[in-house]
Amino acid sequence: MSDVYLNGEMLPLEKAQISVLDRGFLFGDGVYEVIPVFHGHPLRLEKHMERLNASLAAIQLPVEITITEWRSIFDQLLSRNPGQHQALYLQISRGSYASRQHGFPTETRPTVFVMTMPLAPRINDSLDDVKGGTAITAPDQRWQRCDIKSTSLLSNVMHHQLALNSGATEAILVDAEGRVTEGSSSNVFIVRDGTIITPPRSHKILSGITRALVLELVVNDGTYPCEERDVSVNELTTADEIWITSSSKEILPIIELNGIPVGKGKPGGVWRHVAGLYQTYKAG
Ligand code: PDD
Repeated sequence: MSDVYLNGEMLPLEKAQISVLDRGFLFGDGVYEVIPVFHGHPLRLEKHMERLNASLAAIQLPVEITITEWRSIFDQLLSRNPGQHQALYLQISRGSYASRQHGFPTETRPTVFVMTMPLAPRINDSLDDVKGGTAITAPDQRWQRCDIKSTSLLSNVMHHQLALNSGATEAILVDAEGRVTEGSSSNVFIVRDGTIITPPRSHKILSGITRALVLELVVNDGTYPCEERDVSVNELTTADEIWITSSSKEILPIIELNGIPVGKGKPGGVWRHVAGLYQTYKAG
């Protein structure tokens, strides 16, 4: 059984308990982060902590934990729960109070929880081993603040289950205007005529740390042009390549969309190049 961090204490997972009046439980009133850790090194830790702080600020939840304190919590957890590749899961809710009231309590006592989770890297030494995933499209039924990494994930969960029910890996969401937003738990990239395209940052998507890393790698490399712009559902369904990105999925090529092969129905050449850049960065 693994050790976890809860409100200042390290303790075995089965001993970690919170109140049923916790606002995370009652309202989904909280935010979270998933930080991938490869060979013991958290990938882009500062960026994840910046996004956490942005999410906390957006929901007006002040938390007095410094980056040094966070690092010490992560180091302790990683040494107590050894493993080659893991993810740090970090969740902060607004805490528990005497009664259930929608309004924010005047005095805040957040619940702070961190655990490690095993992570099976999707991209290993041989890119030939990556078979790719499949996706469906679905109407995006979420709220207008998808930029906040909130634990209120019911729509995401339902979108994801829709994909699983049809045997697919991910649901790619499309807004009311026919524009691709993101996946139920990932960002989306397409390739058309050698150009890499991804929807722009906005309140409609989570600003993925993996998405930003991919864009940075592609720009620095300079082999392929890339654009952050709206992507229509028509551009998606006729794309040469589709990828989804996230801390746990890394850069996963989608080889079939709505039952129809994407491009040649196997991971594409542009994916291969960019996955190679990502792999080198990860190793570095
Ligand atoms: N999900 N969009 C959504 C809705 C997400 O839930 C995620 C990640 C991403 C990609 O973000 P990043 O590259 O920073 O992981 C985009 C995490 C992994 C999860 O909920 O488990």
